[in-house]
Amino acid sequence: MASGGGNGRKPLISGNWKMHHNHFEAIQTVQKLSYQLGSDDYAAVDVSVHPPFTDLRSVQTVLESDEVPVALGAQHCHWEDKGAFTGEVGPPMLAKLNVAYVIAGHSERRDLFGETDEMVNRKVRAIIAAGMTPIMCVGEHLEEREAGTTEERVSSQVRAGLEGVPGEQVGAMVIAYEPIWAIGTGRTATPEDAQAVCGVIRSVVGELAGEAAAGAVRIQYGGSVKPTNTAELMAQPDIDGALVGGASLDPDDFSRIVRYRKE
Ligand code: 13P
Repeated sequence: MASGGGNGRKPLISGNWKMHHNHFEAIQTVQKLSYQLGSDDYAAVDVSVHPPFTDLRSVQTVLESDEVPVALGAQHCHWEDKGAFTGEVGPPMLAKLNVAYVIAGHSERRDLFGETDEMVNRKVRAIIAAGMTPIMCVGEHLEEREAGTTEERVSSQVRAGLEGVPGEQVGAMVIAYEPIWAIGTGRTATPEDAQAVCGVIRSVVGELAGEAAAGAVRIQYGGSVKPTNTAELMAQPDIDGALVGGASLDPDDFSRIVRYRKE
């Protein structure tokens, strides 16, 4: 199903729950979400939820037993399949739970847990090798925006993150542009600013992986996405979805974001 923009890219709206909701709360949240969304919503938009690791099995069971067409997502993984890496989870372990999308390189992982561009690249490749789709996050700090280096910063993250990934695999990926100053702050990039950076990301993908990949890759915006600002962001030609933090915890708000066409 093509997006409203006629570019063939179906929008993807993803809820990153971060470190919120235990498995009981997670079950309730996806059940409530499933009551709010209907087949016309799923026809127009792909939807994923990214609970903490401890909730994945419970959420998988609800989605599969109730046949809810919401994709299961994870927030993180290691790049090795298995081994002596205390506390980590390997991509095949997620694939076994029918996880479809894995976030790689979220700014909280980069800034709080020391993830480098090189680690993000290894994770992207490992996620693809395990048959899942990476949602690779990029974005600038406030100081970088104020110094006018947003494009440079984001382009270098895209280049490093995609190194060695074949063009057809890049085209099947998702890249999330999340300006760090807009995450959890209530500040959102203007649709024009978000579009400008997403346009740069698409052109860097074109340079690295070819025009087919650039035309196919889905680019999400993230950073204080709410029911009231989703439609104007989604109207931008290079924005193909949203990576939603805080507002995805509440099934009422998240379903309104998924149904942005009707707001
Ligand atoms: P908020 O929507 O809470 O700003 O979080 C955005 C985000 O980091 C999603 O990954």
